[in-house]
Amino acid sequence: MPLLETMIEVAKPWAKFYSKSHVAQGVIMFAHIGGMLWGGGLAVSADRSVWKLRRAGAEERARLLAEIDRLHVPVVVGLIIASLSGVLLFVADLETYGTSFLFWGKMAAFALLLVNGRWLQVQEQRMQKASGLIAGRWGALTIASWASMTLWFVVALGGVLLKNA
Ligand code: HEM
Repeated sequence: MPLLETMIEVAKPWAKFYSKSHVAQGVIMFAHIGGMLWGGGLAVSADRSVWKLRRAGAEERARLLAEIDRLHVPVVVGLIIASLSGVLLFVADLETYGTSFLFWGKMAAFALLLVNGRWLQVQEQRMQKASGLIAGRWGALTIASWASMTLWFVVALGGVLLKNA
């Protein structure tokens, strides 16, 4: 795999530094877990609220949608921190992760999480603009929220399995 070999060569100084520096290992792993805790914590709690309002009226749901709208930026900040630190973890051991099915499985789950999150955001914004949609689309929103919660845990599980593989 010439591309992977080139990447391993380019990343060598970082991999060498990372393997020797306990400070770098601690800071980056903390950023990874911290980003996940921040972004995932906010997202999972919003997803749970969507489920809790499955029998609520339009007014209560509209209030929640406005609240969730304000959460998107902080969730994205958490995702960016987890992703940047994830890339640094990845390039610190390309030889292992580059050919690991577990790693690419985790990346596939991560991609699904992002696509599902974007779909949720678009639906929520549409429902906010046209409150007539709130009743009809809440079921679909609930299903996507469950998918979001599940994917956050699947990605976290993928990371833990990677670490212990
Ligand atoms: C929602 C986003 C993410 C979550 C929830 C997440 C979660 C985790 C968790 C829980 C661990 C195990 C940490 C430990 O046991 O100490 C981990 C490790 C890891 N993650 Fe992620 N991760 C995410 C995104 C990413 C991304 C985008 C990448 C790569 C581009 C990545 C690459 C890695 C790697 C390579 C490890 C193994 C580190 C090691 O063995 O030292 N992660 N992740």
